[in-house]
Formats: sequence, C-alpha cells, structure tokens
Amino acid sequence: MDNLHVRPHARGRGIGHQLFCAFAGELSARASSPGFHLWVFEANVAGLRFYKRLGGRVVERDTSKIPAAGGKSVLRVHWPTIAHLG
Ligand SMILES: CC(C)(COP(=O)(O)OP(=O)(O)OC[C@H]1O[C@@H](n2cnc3c(N)ncnc32)[C@H](O)[C@@H]1OP(=O)(O)O)[C@@H](O)C(=O)NCCC(=O)NCCS
Repeated sequence: MDNLHVRPHARGRGIGHQLFCAFAGELSARASSPGFHLWVFEANVAGLRFYKRLGGRVVERDTSKIPAAGGKSVLRVHWPTIAHLG
C-alpha cells in the first residue's frame, strides 16, 4: 500500500477502516504470501495509531528516501497476516 487517504471532512466515520479491510481482502486473495507491510512517517501519530488499531506492529525505523521528505523518520508497520481483516 503506497497511500491511504480519506478526505478531511469524511474522517472518523470508519471509511479508512473499510478501505483497509477491502484492500486486505483483495491482497489476501491474490498474494502468494500472507504478510504485508507499509511505511508511515513517525510524526504521523494519528496514522500510526490507525494502523496499530488494525493489528499492525512497528518492526523497523528508517529515514524516508522521498526527496521532498527531507530525511524524516519513517516506520515500517507489519502484519504477519491480513486475511482475517478482509
Ligand atoms: C488515517 C486515515 C486514512 C484513517 O481514515 P478514517 O476514515 O478517518 O479512519 P476510521 O474512521 O476508520 O478510523 C477512525 C480513527 O480516526 C480517528 N478520528 C475520529 N475523528 C477523526 C477526524 N475528524 N479526523 C481524523 N481522525 C479521526 C478515530 O478516533 C479513529 O482513531 P482511534 O480510534 O485510534 O482514535 C485518515 O485519517 C487520513 O486520511 N489521514 C491522513 C492521511 C494519512 O495519514 N494516511 C495514512 C498514512 S499514508
């Protein structure tokens, strides 16, 4: 997953949770391995809380390679399996 965004006025209504679960269903039906990870900026406290609430665990810290990010810290969030979410 590269980006997950819900329009600001629509946040907090469960749309992000539904999108993530729909993605989990698609991925688990097509992928050859059950695990999944994404990177999130460490400063994105709300985003990180959202992913942790969905069962993700921080397994690595690095600096972003995106030029515009200016070397900000990013965290790798991992799920050993996501099939149950879909
Ligand atoms: C992270 C994001 C995708 C979640 O989508 P969402 O539709 O708001 O998520 P849900 O409604 O399923 O989950 C609600 C969560 O947001 C919180 N929330 C409630 N009202 C909110 C609001 N007005 N704005 C933001 N978050 C809110 C809820 O408290 C809950 O978090 P918590 O239970 O851990 O406290 C969305 O907030 C977003 O687009 N954020 C900006 C982009 C981003 O950070 N993306 C992730 C990294 S790429």
